[in-house]
Amino acid sequence: MEKNILIGVTGGIAAYKVVEVASRLKKSGANVKIMMTRNATEFVSPRTFQEITGNAVSVEMFGDAANFHVAHVALANFADLILIAPATANFLAKMAHGIADDLLTTTILAFDGKILVAPAMNTKMYENPATQANLSVLKARGVKILEPNTGNLACGTSGKGRLPEPEEICAEIEKILAEEQILAGKKIIVTAGGTLEAIDPVRYIGNRSSGRMGCEIAKFAVESGADVVLISGKAEIEPPNGLKSFFKVESALEMREKVLNEFETADCVIMSAAVADYRVKSPAAQKIKKSAENLTLELVKNPDILRELGNLKKNQVLVGFAAETQNILDYARKKLVEKNLDFIVANDVTAEGAGFGVSTNIASIIWRDGEIETFPLMSKAELAEKIVLRVEKLLNDKKFFPVGFNQ
Ligand code: C5P
Repeated sequence: MEKNILIGVTGGIAAYKVVEVASRLKKSGANVKIMMTRNATEFVSPRTFQEITGNAVSVEMFGDAANFHVAHVALANFADLILIAPATANFLAKMAHGIADDLLTTTILAFDGKILVAPAMNTKMYENPATQANLSVLKARGVKILEPNTGNLACGTSGKGRLPEPEEICAEIEKILAEEQILAGKKIIVTAGGTLEAIDPVRYIGNRSSGRMGCEIAKFAVESGADVVLISGKAEIEPPNGLKSFFKVESALEMREKVLNEFETADCVIMSAAVADYRVKSPAAQKIKKSAENLTLELVKNPDILRELGNLKKNQVLVGFAAETQNILDYARKKLVEKNLDFIVANDVTAEGAGFGVSTNIASIIWRDGEIETFPLMSKAELAEKIVLRVEKLLNDKKFFPVGFNQ
């Protein structure tokens, strides 16, 4: 594993086990750097980690003025993955709230890659609603949490809160890093946002799509190594970094043109855009003046991009969305068949925490064989991950869904 792993050690007794984690990672070929909180140095000497990793250990934010460089940014740039082990309750609280009051927490804020957090503490502290709420916040942000084991604890009690064994922590890191490139060499088109259909040069007909779902899908596909082409209508959020191409479009017709241009060489299209079903037949060349009491706009049907792709499809995996307000599963199943899709993501946009504008969703995935997977409320980032992982199974011709797969 030729990867750069940054380990953040916080002040728990289990810090001693992390010496073994660092040693194993180093032996497997990784370049390992350690940062510690001041409290962590009470449990293990920085020198121990230094000898094991062959790299200087960072503790202080402003320690060495003579060699000053922006340490937290340098460390964040170094890392392919950051492991925090053991993660104390105090650290989890700080991370969940974006507090940056030492080198370790500041580095975390400056890092936008994969983070694995391994909490270890007394059972009551772990089960405390405050700690659990902080863990939920982190999970929703896409931070991976390695659950503690149950067993004897340093405080003399027995329960949940033990840091998993070094081999378990290393296996989890391997898994996360391997997952990252599962879509290498695959071209994935993702559409996002809503199309705008012009009424005149000033006004348009639009919809409430924020573009968040599509951007999260594009982001996870990029992190999985895919060549991602993002074609976005109106969106409230910035496209992710690392895209192969990015096209900003306005109308359904423009979106159609871009999607068709890219389709032949694509391995998969995920149509999460809210494409307008109708457009104004003859948009006015000049701004329409406010004179008549009633104004009638004639609308004509837009082409259904996904249905066209369904007809053109060779080996491409096609994923559609069904945003509905009633009879969700029935409508979604109908679209799945009519548009010749591999699976469809259905959601009730009227349910609280689902649909447009919010960062969470409640969705079901419907498969060609009739199987339905129903997911609880989750962040759009988490749902994006589930969608992309299923695409990967289809593209790599793996059998999908052993019971409990990735739930
Ligand atoms: O039929 P309906 O519009 O509800 O289908 C929704 C799915 O079809 C979404 O995946 C959406 O992106 C796609 N779609 C499309 N072209 C349209 C309308 C919807 O590709 N004109």
